[in-house]
Amino acid sequence: MAEYRKVTHQFSAFVQVSLQNLRGWFSESSTYTAGGRDLRQPEESLHHGYLKVIAFARYSVPMCGIVGYVGHQQALDVITEALRRMEYRGYDSSGLTIVEDGTYATAKAAGKLQHLLDKLDENPESFSGHTGIGHTRWATHGRPTDANAHPHNSFDGTVSIVHNGIIENAGALRAALTEQGISLRSDTDSEVAAHLLALAYNDGPTAGDFKASVLAVLAQLEGAFTILFVHVNHPGEIYAARRNTPLIIGVGQGETFLGSDVAAFIEYTRDAVELGQDTVVHATAEGYSLCDFAGNPVEGKAFTIDWDLAAAEKGGYDSFMMKEINEQPAAVRDTLTGHFVDGRIVLDEQDLTGADMRSFDKVFVVACGSAYHSGLLAKYAIEHWVRIPVEIEVASEFRYRDPVLDKRTLVVAVSQSGETADTLEAVRHAKEQGAKVLAVCNTFGAQIPRESDAVLYTHAGPEIGVASTKAFLAQVAANYIVGLALAQERGTKYPDEVLDIWTELEAIPEKVQQVLACEEQCLAIAKELGAIRTMLFLGRGVGYPVALEGALKLKELAYIHAEGFPAGELKHGPIALIEDDLPVVVVVPSPRGREVLHSKIVSNIQEIRARGAKTIVIAEEGDTAVEPYANWLIRIPQASTIMQPLLATVPLQFLAAEIAQQCGNEDIDKPRNLAKSVTVE
Ligand code: M6R
Repeated sequence: MAEYRKVTHQFSAFVQVSLQNLRGWFSESSTYTAGGRDLRQPEESLHHGYLKVIAFARYSVPMCGIVGYVGHQQALDVITEALRRMEYRGYDSSGLTIVEDGTYATAKAAGKLQHLLDKLDENPESFSGHTGIGHTRWATHGRPTDANAHPHNSFDGTVSIVHNGIIENAGALRAALTEQGISLRSDTDSEVAAHLLALAYNDGPTAGDFKASVLAVLAQLEGAFTILFVHVNHPGEIYAARRNTPLIIGVGQGETFLGSDVAAFIEYTRDAVELGQDTVVHATAEGYSLCDFAGNPVEGKAFTIDWDLAAAEKGGYDSFMMKEINEQPAAVRDTLTGHFVDGRIVLDEQDLTGADMRSFDKVFVVACGSAYHSGLLAKYAIEHWVRIPVEIEVASEFRYRDPVLDKRTLVVAVSQSGETADTLEAVRHAKEQGAKVLAVCNTFGAQIPRESDAVLYTHAGPEIGVASTKAFLAQVAANYIVGLALAQERGTKYPDEVLDIWTELEAIPEKVQQVLACEEQCLAIAKELGAIRTMLFLGRGVGYPVALEGALKLKELAYIHAEGFPAGELKHGPIALIEDDLPVVVVVPSPRGREVLHSKIVSNIQEIRARGAKTIVIAEEGDTAVEPYANWLIRIPQASTIMQPLLATVPLQFLAAEIAQQCGNEDIDKPRNLAKSVTVE
């Protein structure tokens, strides 16, 4: 019954907010405030009564980058720089509020950060001050407008907030606020938090008490959120709260930073603090204090950030993505470092014992997008080395399918960000069923590793380009380390066999370095291809996940229809797509490895060529059998079958980037409609 009530309540909230969202499509409004007052009020141009349909839309959900600063510098400078570095988390809109001397100024703008910077240039003197909050947004539903951009300010001009996540009971809260005569200016779930704080601070038992008012607001919110609050009566203070979405503190000299991730403040400090669930932060220039949502003191976990500003800058490349492709040798090398000691594979932090590792009778890999493709490769490696069944599942499907899990199941959760909501929920579901979870993650202290029994960190460094490149290669390497650790512990590989595989892995960074030389060739191919509407990718065995990854890269960067198939499936349907001049990428396995696969794929290439396709063939050096059938032939160094994906993926990354640019997508770091961390389901 309780569950039924919750569902009913959520549905009614959903309908209310959906109706609000529809308004957003008809009435675009702009907000530009100074001194806590709107200079341009939103227009009321569509009455609710006009809406006779129920929108099948969810909340106008941000999943975003957040920054807070309090200290001796001009907050505007720190915050705009932080937003620039966190824009990869969302770039539908951005905004900031600066608090000083009993007043605040807010600016926000739909579109890329530059729109906000242009607005700030109109009136820079209003934004002087030493305390501020900022936000860069990615909306899942609801039009990205100025009004929906953050920060959101209270009805009385005293409070400003930024929010990442979903306030699930926003519909009910909006209705209650409306009843009190407060008119809401945006279609977001977030705005309620600003009004609620103003109400709590202005009147009643928490009147005049910033902290008590924040706690009172938090007690009313359901869902997942990181919220930063500032109040005109408290310049020099920021309150922040997190539940289920990320927030990290940066500790400087006479200054304190808050960020969705360390990119927000890496320029100023490497001393950071990760926070547990349901933590409230009080930040001032002198430092910070922490409590839980009931006000009881809690501790954070201090850590030192092990990468520097240069890692988060473009370093002479035109795009982060190009830089990150070129960083792949280091990403793989750094991921391998320290995991083979005295002839044995060593994992990172973990509560998994050798007995646990021996007890598993099944492995599940859960992940999304590129991380999922890395998981497909884990299946090939682990089944081959460990002789244990491995299932791989897209994280968003996993927990709704009621998979068979128990304490003898190892779930490997792969996520660059460690924040992906679908993967996080899959982890929670697995743990509820008694399974052990090992996270493969690129982000220290993120939620997925925190909730897992063990973690193996990839050391790709910060990946800013939305399309995953170096993180993907590092994930493949890390998944292979997991496979080797299991093989070693369970005795399915002798130590000398583990050493042989490890030696091959260690040779990969140098080989990736050689593959990087194909960039020019990929550019030439992209130019020759010209305007294309679709492209197919074929592979066999471990070449199939590579084909999927190549197709995903092209889709997300060039906005071109692309599909990856196992080459053997061609005859079962997809071959009907082949027509004159259709470009088809074929990932050819080594003839020295699975000869049977090699000869079959050579036949497949002939079949598609016979039907007019133009082939871009990725094949290892010395493979002459493919030469007659390749319109373009990209060579990669020789490697064993299982290692080849670490090399064959690289030309597909270049191809996607170059084709995207030929198609007019100049900003390959920020493909349309995407965000780096998908923190909503
Ligand atoms: O942070 P995660 O590894 O969990 O992210 C998973 C996917 O969202 C991600 O790989 C996405 O598919 C990339 N944009 C692909 O390039």
